[in-house]
Amino acid sequence: MGLSTQLKCIDCGATFSLDQVRYTCDCGGLLDVARDLEEARDGALRETFDRRLGGRSLADASGVWRFRELILPAPEEAIVSRPEGNTSQYRSARLSKWTGLDDLALKHEGENPTGSFKDRGMTVGVTQARQVSARAVACASTGNTSASLASYGALAGLPVIIFVPEGKIAFGKLSQALAYGARTLQVKGDFDDAMQLVQDVCRELDIYLLNSINPFRVEGQKAIILETLQQRDWQPPDWIVLPAGNLGNASAFGKALYEAHQLGLISRVPRLAAVQAEGANPFYRSFTGGFRQRERVHAETIATAIKIGDPVSFTRAVRAIEWTNGVVTQVSDSEIMDAKAQVDAAGIGCEPASASSAAGIKKLVTEGVIKPGESAVAILTGHLLKDPGATVDYHLNRLEGITPAYANAPVVVEPTVDAVRQVLRRDA
Ligand code: F0G
Repeated sequence: MGLSTQLKCIDCGATFSLDQVRYTCDCGGLLDVARDLEEARDGALRETFDRRLGGRSLADASGVWRFRELILPAPEEAIVSRPEGNTSQYRSARLSKWTGLDDLALKHEGENPTGSFKDRGMTVGVTQARQVSARAVACASTGNTSASLASYGALAGLPVIIFVPEGKIAFGKLSQALAYGARTLQVKGDFDDAMQLVQDVCRELDIYLLNSINPFRVEGQKAIILETLQQRDWQPPDWIVLPAGNLGNASAFGKALYEAHQLGLISRVPRLAAVQAEGANPFYRSFTGGFRQRERVHAETIATAIKIGDPVSFTRAVRAIEWTNGVVTQVSDSEIMDAKAQVDAAGIGCEPASASSAAGIKKLVTEGVIKPGESAVAILTGHLLKDPGATVDYHLNRLEGITPAYANAPVVVEPTVDAVRQVLRRDA
């Protein structure tokens, strides 16, 4: 089943065919991949999605392409997939106690092939790049998008050019981009400068842009929500909580929930809670002003993945919060790193930005926004090993302005059993 699909401006409603290479409307508005949901309202989609579980074809095995009617009409042989998705939802008594929320699940998007949720958008974005015969692909990135694009681009045999803020991305991510063979440009500036530059470069040099301003990326990331719902037998939680930076994911989550509800896949819409770092909080500031104004800030946070002051998907994300009766909150770097230490010590582990969802839940429970009897799914967006520097510095108490509440510093010992005995005795 292929649903009628086109590109549609979220501001003025102008439409374009899917094979046009454009990321914004002539009016400047962002574009959606819009489909005729009426055509799929017969209830068969849920059975189709469930029937594909355990399927062996690449498309069925992917936690993105399993939901292809709601992702992108593409022939199976055109799909560039590793395959991604199929990430776990964890429960942890320790984290329930720490956040104050009994019914808490953590969905670990760090289990994707390159270690972050970006693979979900990239499989679709790179597939579309091939569909429109792109000659090269590019993105600006705080690290994970570039790691993902470098991998999927290599898989598709496309030249990849990435723009990262010089000296400001975590080593795990930079090493991936270099290893997968992407032409890596370290821009003298921050992410927001790199984002501006890559848009100019793509326009002038005819390169296909694969940041989340690209509506096909958003379509792929919707699968985080579809898979979460499927894993819960289509019973939605009360809340879905996620870190927010460039706002692609918040946009995707809102669109997925809207469409799932319209199609009757779910009978009620969970509320989104988007969590920003205090030093990179333009979306939070706009939210507290009733979204009357778009805010921009100079971003500074230890969670380099979300160190973004002028998010490109702003208008789409406002819509997502409005559609879901959602909220936006902010947490300090200390709260982020302590939350990370808790997620890590639970045996689950994540990178700093990801932990802002756990920190956000704790804060929203304390404030009474999330009620103790409610259920929540926290999205962990990236793998623990993405940013080993931040983890080690936390446990060694080397982070400026942060006093670690849960430090686990290593101990240097003489190579004798006696020395070890003394250390363990101290622990007991
Ligand atoms: N968590 C992680 C680990 C990320 O890498 C990002 C974004 C986010 C959360 C925020 O998601 O941008 O959709 O609001 N990283 C981008 C990158 C910006 O370049 O890798 P968002």
